[in-house]
Amino acid sequence: MQNFIFKNPTEILFGRGMIAELGGRVPANTPVLLLYGGGSIKRNGVYEQVKTALKNHRVIEFGGIEANPLYETCLKALDQVKASQVGFILAVGGGSVLDAAKFIAAAARFDGADPWDILRSSGKHVKTALPLGAVMTLPATGSESNGNAVISRQSSREKLALASGVVFPVFSVLDPETTFSLPQKQVRNGVVDAFVHVMEQYLTYPAGAPLQDRFSESILQTLIETGPVTLVELRNYEARAAFMWSATLALNTLIGCGVPQDWSTHMIGHELTAFYGLDHAETLAIVLPGILKHELERKKAKLEQYGQRVWKVRTATRAIARTEKFFHSLGMPTRLRDYKISAAEAAEKVRVRFAGRNTVLGEHGDLKAETVAAILRARA
Ligand code: NZQ
Ligand code: ZN
Repeated sequence: MQNFIFKNPTEILFGRGMIAELGGRVPANTPVLLLYGGGSIKRNGVYEQVKTALKNHRVIEFGGIEANPLYETCLKALDQVKASQVGFILAVGGGSVLDAAKFIAAAARFDGADPWDILRSSGKHVKTALPLGAVMTLPATGSESNGNAVISRQSSREKLALASGVVFPVFSVLDPETTFSLPQKQVRNGVVDAFVHVMEQYLTYPAGAPLQDRFSESILQTLIETGPVTLVELRNYEARAAFMWSATLALNTLIGCGVPQDWSTHMIGHELTAFYGLDHAETLAIVLPGILKHELERKKAKLEQYGQRVWKVRTATRAIARTEKFFHSLGMPTRLRDYKISAAEAAEKVRVRFAGRNTVLGEHGDLKAETVAAILRARA
């Protein structure tokens, strides 16, 4: 096991009615920015609950954060934060709203000239940020309990991530009932996203970390069990609660402690969203089987362990096939042709971009742009 520092400062408030706890958690002595998306919170009663809980607070609202949140929109919210001397940001919505809140919180305290530098440097220069909290209405990203944010820039068609210990939410409210209004497609996306988060921290090579392996396998098994249930029983509280907690634990930094990680599926997936507008999870379902197939030999030991413990199959090849089949069972396509995207074109676009940035991916840090292009061509 490699050395690690484990620090997750987010307090989780989990369960029915927990939005009422906001009043005591959000600071009352400073203006609060209530950040939200395209309006789902106004249709499902979450907005009302939040406003009631914050009736004694000075709340400024900013709505309209997009799915795959735009840098351009975040800058408008940043203007509002500065003009109103906001001292706390409350994100209410899915991962996109929360990611936007993290970026705005970092940008508000950033002393560099250009806020895009925060993303260009993956958050390395972020020293401090406004405090933020969240009411998370979509189980998927794990953003409710990590220091990551992914922001898209419309003008350049880029999608870049930041990671920083200072943008962890102070608290996150997770009430599974707030997710009952999710369209089936978002539930499907959430199950796949959480599944792939576990895979990117688990499916590398044996690293003397048996507990992390068991954590990962238990989250995968829970997603395999509850995913199909929560996808059809949209108001089944127990199933949704199990799914929601799985999504949080999949990316709250616990299972990744001291182990090699491989975020290549996510990095390639971000480019597919940037170029073609696919949902985040749609890109992951295309790319992950391609990475596993291409890296079969180097990942063989873990693929076999995964196959035997999670799917009860013996070989690495079968483990990959079961993974893809699981995505299909959720109604998730796994090929570029399913979206009428030319694999040759996508491969070339991503190759040029990664070559320009000298990007290398994978747990060994040696997957170059050419290799990524070959993997994408195989996902036609
Ligand atoms: O905008 P509104 O109207 O709120 O509607 C949203 C949006 O249209 C809707 N929605 C959310 N909660 C709802 C709801 N509709 C009905 N009922 C509810 N309870 O769902 C749509 C999608 O929302 P979005 O926030 O975009 O989805 P998700 O949570 O999957 O977030 C995706 C973003 O997170 C990034 C992705 O790249 C993508 O930009 N990621 C962030 C990560 C992180 N911070 O750690 C890790 C992930 O790997 C991922 O990259
Ligand atoms: Zn993801």
